[in-house]
Amino acid sequence: MTIQEICSLFDIGGQYIDCSELGIGNINSTYIIDFIRDGEQKQFCLQRINKNAFKNPEQVMDNIVKVTNYVREKTIQKGLPSKRFVLRAFNALDGKPFVVDDNGDYWRCYRYIRNSVTYDSTNDLNIIENVGKAFGRFQNCLDGFSASELYITIPNFHNTIKRFEDFHKAIEEDPFDRAKKVKVEIEKLLSFEERATKLQRLCDSGDLPIRVTHNDTKCNNVSFDKDTNEALAVLDLDTVMPGLIAHDYGDAIRFIANAVVEDCPDISKVKIDFNKYEAFTKGFLGEVNKSLTELEKQTLNLGVFTITVELATRFLADYLNGDKYFKVKYPGHNVFRTKNQIALAEDFIKQEEKLNEILKKYL
Ligand SMILES: Nc1ncnc2c1ncn2[C@@H]1O[C@H](COP(=O)(O)OP(=O)(O)O)[C@@H](O)[C@H]1O
Ligand SMILES: [Mg+2]
Repeated sequence: MTIQEICSLFDIGGQYIDCSELGIGNINSTYIIDFIRDGEQKQFCLQRINKNAFKNPEQVMDNIVKVTNYVREKTIQKGLPSKRFVLRAFNALDGKPFVVDDNGDYWRCYRYIRNSVTYDSTNDLNIIENVGKAFGRFQNCLDGFSASELYITIPNFHNTIKRFEDFHKAIEEDPFDRAKKVKVEIEKLLSFEERATKLQRLCDSGDLPIRVTHNDTKCNNVSFDKDTNEALAVLDLDTVMPGLIAHDYGDAIRFIANAVVEDCPDISKVKIDFNKYEAFTKGFLGEVNKSLTELEKQTLNLGVFTITVELATRFLADYLNGDKYFKVKYPGHNVFRTKNQIALAEDFIKQEEKLNEILKKYL
């Protein structure tokens, strides 16, 4: 089916003019669609959902519709511009929020957020603070929404105990005889296991509230106004699921506060940049601080360590299993990613007191 044919199945009216593939994003294929409706030019954002990553696209869309409807309502109540601050998925002509093409691929159509831009990475502290603010506002709007209404579209996504079990299995099976090459990294990660699984144990004992979490809190999942750099909508809601706030905070800091990108091969440069850490924390906690429980506050930094180590075990398990999950650009790419995350976790341990001090300022 052509893009035009797929568009014709959505309930968006008007006349199709043109499309262009965006070519950014890691998971889905994203197209910008030009339409004319009532003599006015309109744009939509059409996405093919990656079926390898999301086995149940209907559940993914059900979660997205529920969450965006709720956030839209709250945004309007706060007097904020919901059209620019909240994603809106259009229905298909059959009333469903997706279209299935001849190949069995699922497509969705969002309102295009005009005059917006996303940043893959940034050193601009103002942007980093605004990324924190956007994810915080998203979380804040969802306070009161019952997470049990959502499907768990990727089971055990941040179950660090389960992630370590997978890691142990990869070491034991070692199907490509690679374990001997990464002995040091394996030992390091195993030495982190007790501490990195503590958050999951607290979760399992029911001591932490289960919230609706975004689960992909990277800076390119927040849109910004091209002219004013004001943070607009939170994008990429495929992984919205029940989770812990420390997961979202931890993953955001892991990604945005690292002095270098997550696969930088020069490990000596890896460290937590205090200014970036503080900028994100200020933006995020400015929005969510009041709704956090005491234990949630105490576990935010544990979330940074946990998510960093968890990802390192996933990179290394993938290397041991033959680089099947993460896209690799060169042999050993997953090993560099692992080393990078280990270095970040080690820096975290070294700097923990200082990080706790900064965090305290915003709690
Ligand atoms: N509704 C939208 N309006 C404007 N730009 C968008 C919209 N949705 C996505 N984008 C752009 O497309 C990119 C990829 O979309 P995203 O949903 O994050 O997919 P992926 O899962 O592939 O990262 C985003 O980083 C953003 O630049
Ligand atoms: Mg994205």
